[in-house]
Amino acid sequence: MKKTKVHNDRSIFDEQIRLLKEDPEIQKMASFTMHNGNTTLQHVENVADVSFRIAEKLGIDIDEKALARGAMLHDYYLYTFKETKMSPYRHGISHPETALKNASKRHRLTEKETNIIRSHMWPMTFLHPPMSREAVLVCLADKYCAVNEMLLKKHDLSEKKQQSKSKICK
Ligand SMILES: [Fe+2]
Ligand SMILES: [Fe+2]
Repeated sequence: MKKTKVHNDRSIFDEQIRLLKEDPEIQKMASFTMHNGNTTLQHVENVADVSFRIAEKLGIDIDEKALARGAMLHDYYLYTFKETKMSPYRHGISHPETALKNASKRHRLTEKETNIIRSHMWPMTFLHPPMSREAVLVCLADKYCAVNEMLLKKHDLSEKKQQSKSKICK
């Protein structure tokens, strides 16, 4: 199959991530853990990086800003699940709305960014499916990263550090 030429700009994408990471409120995600002790901040960075790399690999044109912001904010729920009394099911269906509520307090989100956050657990959150390419990418990348972080214990999946180790998304 012939690969479609895309013009996704990694520098625009990375700049959005940098801006978010400068925010002390966003940095709070580094205080909470998930998936084998991985911090939530590392996880959302992994998801952002893998989302972009899948788009490049499959030749999908993306809105760099929306993808970066949606991926970085998709798990902005600010707690460690293991320290709560929530069931995995309850956490699974409720945390996208919690993340969205927290993110909306600090950022003016577009409709697309809102849907990326709200739909990332689909099909678990059946009534909120991904409605854009960017939302599908985050939904897929989230599952891929969760498996890597839980089973393979690769906490930093970023392209630069994993260039020689990861064969996926190349
Ligand atoms: Fe999540
Ligand atoms: Fe996630």
